[in-house]
Amino acid sequence: MSEIYPVPPRVSTRSDSPIQDMAQYREAYARAQNDPEGFWLDVARRRLRWMKEPTHGLDGSYHTIDEGPFSWFGDGVLNVTESCLDRHVETRPSKTAIIWEGDEPGEVRKLSYRELHKQVCRTANALRELGLKKGERVIIYMGMVPEAAIAMLACARLGAIHSVVFGGFSAEAVRDRVRDCGAEIVITQDKGRRGGKSIPLKEVVDKALEGEQHIKHVLVYRRTGEEVPWVEGRDVWWHEAVDGAEDLCPAVPTMAEDPLFILYTSGSTGKPKGVVHTCGGYLTFTSYTHEIVFDLREHDVYACVADIGWITGHSYIVYGPLANRATTLMFESIPTYPDAGRYWDMVERHGITIFYTAPTAIRALAAQGDEHVDKYDRRTLRVLGTVGEPINPDAWRWYYEIVGDGRCNIVDTYWQTETGGVTISPLAPLTATKPGSATLPLPGIVPLLMDDSDRILRGPGEGRLCMAFPWPGQARTVWGDHPRFVATYFNHYKGYYFTGDGCRRDTDGYHWITGRVDDVLNVSGHRMGTAEFESALVAVDEVAEAGIVGFPHPIKGQGVYAYIVLQPGFAPNDALEAKLHRAVRDQIGAHARVDLFQFVPGLPKTRSGKVMRRILRKVAEGEPDKLGDISTLADPSVVEAIVSGARSLP
Ligand code: WTA
Repeated sequence: MSEIYPVPPRVSTRSDSPIQDMAQYREAYARAQNDPEGFWLDVARRRLRWMKEPTHGLDGSYHTIDEGPFSWFGDGVLNVTESCLDRHVETRPSKTAIIWEGDEPGEVRKLSYRELHKQVCRTANALRELGLKKGERVIIYMGMVPEAAIAMLACARLGAIHSVVFGGFSAEAVRDRVRDCGAEIVITQDKGRRGGKSIPLKEVVDKALEGEQHIKHVLVYRRTGEEVPWVEGRDVWWHEAVDGAEDLCPAVPTMAEDPLFILYTSGSTGKPKGVVHTCGGYLTFTSYTHEIVFDLREHDVYACVADIGWITGHSYIVYGPLANRATTLMFESIPTYPDAGRYWDMVERHGITIFYTAPTAIRALAAQGDEHVDKYDRRTLRVLGTVGEPINPDAWRWYYEIVGDGRCNIVDTYWQTETGGVTISPLAPLTATKPGSATLPLPGIVPLLMDDSDRILRGPGEGRLCMAFPWPGQARTVWGDHPRFVATYFNHYKGYYFTGDGCRRDTDGYHWITGRVDDVLNVSGHRMGTAEFESALVAVDEVAEAGIVGFPHPIKGQGVYAYIVLQPGFAPNDALEAKLHRAVRDQIGAHARVDLFQFVPGLPKTRSGKVMRRILRKVAEGEPDKLGDISTLADPSVVEAIVSGARSLP
């Protein structure tokens, strides 16, 4: 029997939420299943401001996905910023929209909805002056400053498509994304601040753009005031272009299905894919899920400490919360700066009521001792969320008992870049929770488990997680490559969306995500592709072949294990390892790092030349006795060398 955490009675009534109890959840779930179009049309009309309300729901399906994307609310016209800003300026202009907490504790800025609206309009006007038009792409490469959210919304105001690139990515990675989406404008800042360190954002952009003729302008926000290189004619200071611009900017009408943004994400193979989300469906879904999952109320101070470079920042720092007229916090620093009490210090100072982070941060902070938590007053907290990777029950319990004093609801939210918003999660405070389980699907989400013979598994069991029916917030395509979208997500099981995750369903119908079943790594909640690491490593002259797998890591969730085959005549040494680290950093970014290198005489391959990754994985996971059948290997002696030289964390 697994333990069930009952609903704390103190918070058993929800304020305005469309779902007030579990009976209403079941009703909404049934309605979304029986009449998805009617259900979502209602939600979309009720929640958003439309220039022209949509009259129909879904066009297309998973079965016809190879002919083109499905669409939601196809005849609706809107501009998402009117839902996120204008209507709130009419009702609550002085309500705080964004609380910004800078790198140094107590370095705070607050922007009201009125102020945010003005800044977005000015920035949109400045971007239009720089030549930006509807449908064009803008790369945003910034740290966690309010101007990053303003830049996103300013693009949306003009109907332009933003693509935010996490500020840890390298120049190579920025260049790939600039090229892939054909961006003409890049928005960045002089330098970033993170954990007392300075991040050379503008410098990286300059390097990325060497030789990129199609870039018209680089708009540079001054964050630190440090000297940065300047390209005359191309580079424009944010304050010079934005501060003098008009305070009002008309919202450009977009169709519900026009792209809102592209976000690059790692998969099993090749370079990251530009996942496309659209205006009407995405905002409907993020707004709905943000309210029902977190039990959002008018006076909440909501803090999601993700980075806007990832989907969590898009959906649950910027779009969902602003659509819901929430007060949303942006955090520039890291959880351990200046010490491991930083989050709880912020909870006390800002009166945070809803707090949302990743399991990796919880594990790292739990390891530092409870005194960092106990020091601060956390009585305002009501809901605690996690996202990004499976949460182990120990970390869950620490979050519940220590951070939440056994008084707050935990929502373990399972979702992906591709799903746009939360798909499987408890609804605070209604759903009884079990530590480590994402519990039940939200209305409109129909999860299915496939067994090893690709049959649908009924009742309790473990299998591969698929979804049976589209919802408005689901990604529509891969930018410029729809066949890749189909091949990645819809070819494994015809008529179903395949998530890439494994999942167990228990006798209560609760879902337990077991992690990726493909070659995607999840390191500290950051999603990375093994293929990206491998191509960075084999590009080093001394390296003949590289095989990358994940292994369990006590803090990061997964660590990165690299098997390296050197070219003849080379031997491993410290200088070479340092060179390999540099190659990964230069090709991907500072957040990508190999934890363990093992130099091997060869990779285990079948006679047809395919690398048997299962063997690499088992050895890295410390289970060399569970290799299974290795009789199809071309050279079984390779395995002995791999097993005998296996590495593990100190
Ligand atoms: C994993 C992040 C278990 C999963 C929003 C998924 C989770 C990948 C959870 C997507 C969770 C996310 N429990 N695993 N609550 N949330 N994942 O695209 O493997 O960066 O496929 O989106 O993170 O990562 P992505």
